[in-house]
Amino acid sequence: MPVHGLTPILLCLLPVWIIPSPAWGHPQLSECRLIQRTALCNDAKLSSVPPGLPRNIEELQLNYNHLQTLQDVSLLRYPSLTSLSVACNSLEKLESNTFQDLSLLESLNLANNNLYIGYPETSQALKKLPGLKVLDLSENKLEDEMAATLLQNLTSLEYLNLSGNLLQRLDETSFSDLNKLKELNLQRNIIFEIDGAFGSNSKLQRLNLAFNDLPCLIDFHMTHLVVLNASHNFIEWFISRQDLNDTFQLETLDLSDNKLLFFPFLPSHSNLRNLYLSHNRLRFYEQLADNATLPNSTTTVEFYNLRKNVSNVTAELWDDSLHGDISSLEILDLRGNQVEYFPYGFIQKMPFLSRLQMCTNCLESLNLTSEQFPGSLYELDISNNRLKQVVADEGTLTVLGNLTYFNLSLNDLDRLPSRLFSSLPSLRAVANAPGTVR
Ligand SMILES: *[C@@H]1O[C@H](CO)[C@@H](O)[C@H](O)[C@H]1NC(C)=O
Ligand SMILES: *[C@@H]1O[C@H](CO)[C@@H](O)[C@H](O)[C@H]1NC(C)=O
Ligand SMILES: *[C@@H]1O[C@H](CO)[C@@H](O)[C@H](O)[C@H]1NC(C)=O
Ligand SMILES: *[C@@H]1O[C@H](CO)[C@@H](O)[C@H](O)[C@H]1NC(C)=O
Ligand SMILES: *[C@@H]1O[C@H](CO)[C@@H](O)[C@H](O)[C@H]1NC(C)=O
Ligand SMILES: *[C@@H]1O[C@H](CO)[C@@H](O)[C@H](O)[C@H]1NC(C)=O
Ligand SMILES: *[C@@H]1O[C@H](CO)[C@@H](O)[C@H](O)[C@H]1NC(C)=O
Ligand SMILES: *[C@@H]1O[C@H](CO)[C@@H](O)[C@H](O)[C@H]1NC(C)=O
Ligand SMILES: *[C@@H]1O[C@H](CO)[C@@H](O)[C@H](O)[C@H]1NC(C)=O
Ligand SMILES: *[C@@H]1O[C@H](CO)[C@@H](O)[C@H](O)[C@H]1NC(C)=O
Ligand SMILES: *[C@@H]1O[C@H](CO)[C@@H](O)[C@H](O)[C@H]1NC(C)=O
Repeated sequence: MPVHGLTPILLCLLPVWIIPSPAWGHPQLSECRLIQRTALCNDAKLSSVPPGLPRNIEELQLNYNHLQTLQDVSLLRYPSLTSLSVACNSLEKLESNTFQDLSLLESLNLANNNLYIGYPETSQALKKLPGLKVLDLSENKLEDEMAATLLQNLTSLEYLNLSGNLLQRLDETSFSDLNKLKELNLQRNIIFEIDGAFGSNSKLQRLNLAFNDLPCLIDFHMTHLVVLNASHNFIEWFISRQDLNDTFQLETLDLSDNKLLFFPFLPSHSNLRNLYLSHNRLRFYEQLADNATLPNSTTTVEFYNLRKNVSNVTAELWDDSLHGDISSLEILDLRGNQVEYFPYGFIQKMPFLSRLQMCTNCLESLNLTSEQFPGSLYELDISNNRLKQVVADEGTLTVLGNLTYFNLSLNDLDRLPSRLFSSLPSLRAVANAPGTVR
């Protein structure tokens, strides 16, 4: 009979299924893999924290499971945890005593969950982590006040990721307790306004605002910031506070893929090395302003009453010399803009310039000698412009001994400096559309 035929198979299977339960002390038989003090329980269809792991584990990974709640008791057995990762579950809340005995926890990854549902209780849980340094809350459908609630009292936090949430407006209350914060990732939200949000974060060095809805960044005065990424917004104006004497620590500024019409108004004193401005509508206007076709046209734009105590900002629109401190620039990426010429002395102000990326602009001629390109120049990409001629005297070519990559293709060139290529010893890649040089 078929029923009898099945019995021996069931008997054989049963002991196998029973083993993991009494053998919790041997994690190789459970859903988890143990590597020294790290328990890896990822992608194991778990709906709660496994209770039988060694008591002294320091790192626990529970990513890609089905946890909905972290209960008060669930981590009691693991008081040595310094790092916990519960990303990509369906977590709605952490009960308020989840971390009551986890005073060593420094890193907590809760990315890609549903914490928008139970954020008030979750916030109570987070408050009990005195040494939390790293927190990932990305992709949790968090709105402004939810994030603000979750971040209350997290005074030890140094790295915070809030990318892929629903933040719209940042103000003084958003990050006010985070006075040790060094790095903040706010990518891929829908932020359209920032009003005094970083006043308490004087240690903040890296700020990522890419892929938001910001229309402008004015009164920029975060002197301690080293990297600011505001690419992929709708920024028309970038204006730093001009009355500050402090040297800004800013080294990298990414404003690519925005709507800039003017070169950014950079800090008056800075260490800016990398400036990414590709894919804007930027050009220089001095020649326009000189022109009799625009008599007495507006030459300044003023921003009044930006905020309670912020002084009015006046930008001298046509004065191309007012772009701030570019003396440390090494990389200037201007690809895909509308630049017709460089303002007088502009290139000269960048004695360390190594890469100038100018492809797809509107340059009509270029005199390497009068612009005074520096010897540090390694890459010069002026492809896809409207260049009819590129000129340089012998002395200039001697100075440009480091120029290695020189792209001239897609122009209307009918004249190149004589001995251009024989005079540039480092040149390895020269790109020229066939037939454009006669
Ligand atoms: C949390 O911060 C609030 C103000 O932001 C303060 O009133 C409260 O005392 C703090 N609580 C703890 C436990 O530090
Ligand atoms: C969040 O940002 C940190 C760096 O600040 C990064 O290490 C982490 O991978 C990011 N998380 C996600 C989900 O992007
Ligand atoms: C700025 O952020 C965007 C989006 O994440 C990234 O592609 C880009 O490389 C970042 N820029 C810099 C300078 O790191
Ligand atoms: C900046 O320095 C100038 C001259 O050194 C001084 O007159 C001015 O008050 C200073 N401004 C600030 C904001 O410290
Ligand atoms: C003024 O405009 C005319 C016509 O648009 C142009 O040819 C000329 O170069 C301009 N002058 C300057 C100084 O740019
Ligand atoms: C332009 O301004 C000057 C003085 O600044 C004035 O004499 C002249 O009439 C103005 N021209 C026009 C067209 O408004
Ligand atoms: C604005 O300035 C006034 C006086 O200078 C000061 O008392 C007040 O605290 C300031 N307000 C803010 C929000 O900074
Ligand atoms: C800004 O300009 C407006 C208009 O001229 C003026 O009323 C206001 O007092 C100015 N604010 C500051 C802070 O200078
Ligand atoms: C290029 O610039 C140099 C130095 O300013 C000048 O002497 C030379 O005439 C210029 N060449 C052309 C073709 O404009
Ligand atoms: C040329 O390149 C070399 C090697 O990268 C570098 O040491 C040297 O300083 C460069 N020359 C100039 C003038 O910058
Ligand atoms: C030179 O520039 C053209 C147009 O921007 C580009 O398609 C080509 O790949 C570049 N050549 C090299 C060798 O980078």
